[in-house]
Amino acid sequence: VSGRTVRVANEAAREAAYDVVVGPGALRDLPQLLRSVLPARRCAVIAPADVARMHARAACDALRAAGLDAELFTFAPGEASKTRESWAALTDALLAARFGRDSCIVAIGGGVAGDLAGFVAATYMRGLPLVQVPTTLLAMVDASVGGKTGVDTAAGKNLVGAFHPPRLVVADPLVLATLPADELRAGLAEAVKHGVMLDASYFAWIADHVGDVLGRDAAAVEHLVARSVELKAAVVAEDPFEQGMRAVLNFGHTVAHALEQSADWSLAHGFAVAAGMVVEARAGEIAGVTDAGTAARVAALLRSCGLPDSPPQSRLAQLLPAMRLDKKARAAEPRFALPRRIGEPARDDAGSWTFPIGEDALETALAGAAREPRTV
Ligand SMILES: NC(=O)c1ccc[n+]([C@@H]2O[C@H](COP(=O)([O-])OP(=O)(O)OC[C@H]3O[C@@H](n4cnc5c(N)ncnc54)[C@H](O)[C@@H]3O)[C@@H](O)[C@H]2O)c1
Ligand SMILES: [Zn+2]
Repeated sequence: VSGRTVRVANEAAREAAYDVVVGPGALRDLPQLLRSVLPARRCAVIAPADVARMHARAACDALRAAGLDAELFTFAPGEASKTRESWAALTDALLAARFGRDSCIVAIGGGVAGDLAGFVAATYMRGLPLVQVPTTLLAMVDASVGGKTGVDTAAGKNLVGAFHPPRLVVADPLVLATLPADELRAGLAEAVKHGVMLDASYFAWIADHVGDVLGRDAAAVEHLVARSVELKAAVVAEDPFEQGMRAVLNFGHTVAHALEQSADWSLAHGFAVAAGMVVEARAGEIAGVTDAGTAARVAALLRSCGLPDSPPQSRLAQLLPAMRLDKKARAAEPRFALPRRIGEPARDDAGSWTFPIGEDALETALAGAAREPRTV
């Protein structure tokens, strides 16, 4: 090739470290924490309307009381708001309020708020610093960490987005007091996933403390969130842009995705992931990747969390067709992240963290799910 090549250093791509502050009452310290990482910023606080009433309005007032210029922007609660339309409405509102490059975005809410406000932060004026204040257990243990932001489209979930890691995450177990019990359970499913794939002693700890966590015991929730964040952070640090090992965090998610799709997204994500983990672990056992007995142990822990250990009967027939459709849409065989055994992800001889699983194995795994009743 003729001509010259100029190498451009890409500082922006170097992952900056950030703190996840976990503790009962941590939200009270938001103004000081925010000040220490982002001095003298104008703050756009973005929250769903329900969380605004319960927590975000007070947090916004506290920022103002601490001398910060903070303004609250709300959107309708729920996954239906994770769209380009909401992104457009929020960015228009920020422009109208003359937020400039000296601003920051504070996302307060569940994973929807984090993904949507995070995508606003990733794109507004080519990127503003982001602070995540997760208020669901799912957002605390999973969504607020790792830098994925984005919105859904008619073609599928999370298809338009950006990697935009936060500068600070503040997780306060006390805000879970207002969270419905099923949302707590949904978050637990992702924590169980971290135990299954990454840490057998954490898996055992969850089994011993399910009651405390579901009872919203602050110390138990603090440990759960901190340990899940540690485990996820270690994987993300290894593979920030999901080119390899980060795939292990998708355990249960290939089947969950098909389940959610076939239910037209009416099923809670955490519940779909719970059922998906059992089906995938069982398929892994059939394929000889996963140690025998693993799926049964995962199923038992999920049951004790009040989570499903199999897909709803009414969905079973639609699952394989949904996965076939997905395969056509992606022009690729679905691949599965699987545990070798509790606490350890499986890796093939070529170093891949995912495995192709044949339809036969999946069918048998699903049939097993249909045969085994939910009771212990
Ligand atoms: N970025 C990531 O890495 C990542 C990871 C996992 C999930 N996600 C995304 O997260 C989303 C799901 O998040 P979710 O389960 O938190 O749902 P959600 O954000 O919709 O929250 C569930 C409901 O609870 C309300 N809520 C939030 N906190 C509350 C509180 N403390 N008290 C009472 N109500 C409260 C919300 O407003 C909403 O109505 C999905 O869109 C998913 O794609 C993203
Ligand atoms: Zn998930």
